[in-house]
Amino acid sequence: MLGCGTVGSQVVRLLGEHAADLQARAGARLELVGIAVRDTAGERAPWVPRELLTDDAAGLVARADVVVELVGGIEPARTLVLQALESGATVVTGNKALLAAHGPALHGAAARGGADLYYEAAVAGAVPVVYGLRESLAGDNVNAVLGIVNGTTNFILDEMATNGLSFDQAVALAQELGYAEADPSADVDGHDAAAKAAILASLAFHTRVSIDDVPVTGIRDVTAEQMAQAAESGHVIKLLAVARLNRDARGISVRVHPALLPATHPLAAVRGAFNAVVVEAESAGRLMFYGQGAGGAPTASAVLSDVVAAAGHKVHGGHAPRESTYAQLPVLGPEST
Ligand code: NDP
Ligand code: HSE
Repeated sequence: MLGCGTVGSQVVRLLGEHAADLQARAGARLELVGIAVRDTAGERAPWVPRELLTDDAAGLVARADVVVELVGGIEPARTLVLQALESGATVVTGNKALLAAHGPALHGAAARGGADLYYEAAVAGAVPVVYGLRESLAGDNVNAVLGIVNGTTNFILDEMATNGLSFDQAVALAQELGYAEADPSADVDGHDAAAKAAILASLAFHTRVSIDDVPVTGIRDVTAEQMAQAAESGHVIKLLAVARLNRDARGISVRVHPALLPATHPLAAVRGAFNAVVVEAESAGRLMFYGQGAGGAPTASAVLSDVVAAAGHKVHGGHAPRESTYAQLPVLGPEST
């Protein structure tokens, strides 16, 4: 495992507490062989085995069958994940920033190494929306994906609207609760949601969307006054990620921005750090994926589901679904929607 912070420490806890069940489900022995961190002498949760801590992440990657990357950010995560995939190790990651910026390089390395890449935790924490799009909806045609995919900003807007917290107080509380990214401006300015929108759009439309394709407006300029006005007229303000297929223009539009929703809209009822993603598909109709979108244990749940799948495939054969980009749809400019 690379990283033992908010999410990583919960993965370690749950791996220990549920070892027998997880191994039975995987049909494989799971052994945590090492945990790479920056500060091996620093304070850790009591269940983290200190003897497994190392600051030699590359050395650890070289001796693992499955690498769980929970460091975050681009470097050194990118180099380590590429090293793992090229050597044939399976990678499980929650790193949406890395996937949305370097997805093609990662999938290319996986193809070269004959390796698998799992990333359920990268979008909407515990909510199985990556699985839903990648596997459950593989037989359908998706027309649109829209939702609340950043727990921190939803929490901030909710706290401002319902508990009268200032913007800064709400950010501090989100950090304390483990929802915010290491740099909370990634949440507040919408970049975390944009990375997730790029991943969802890539999966939904079988194409490649990079974070650079996503126009983004965050919540920094949303005022308490605007939120009060919205409430008076029976609305709420939510930060939405929206990806739509435009059949006429033969392309897709993807964006992230604050939106005014009627209080009766299903996404208006999404409170705190919860996430919800609505998928509109040709045959299935409208589906809604809902649940805890951030925080250590909920995200660790998604990580461990990937670990179980990865270990099962390592031992019994089989692979994660390969990247599907056959549609190659252009991302249209914001004027297209
Ligand atoms: P944290 O900042 O809490 O933890 C990061 C961990 O990575 C720390 O243990 C840190 O070590 C370690 N680390 C940082 N740099 C290095 C390095 N150069 N070499 C080795 N280890 C390093 O992050 P989170 O747990 O919150 O997030 C991890 C990932 O999960 C990110 O990609 C994030 O986007 C994603 N994620 C997070 C969610 C959340 O709710 N927090 C939800 C969904 C996804 P040390 O402890 O020594 O500082
Ligand atoms: N910082 C992210 C959020 C973590 O608040 O949604 C989950 O990806």
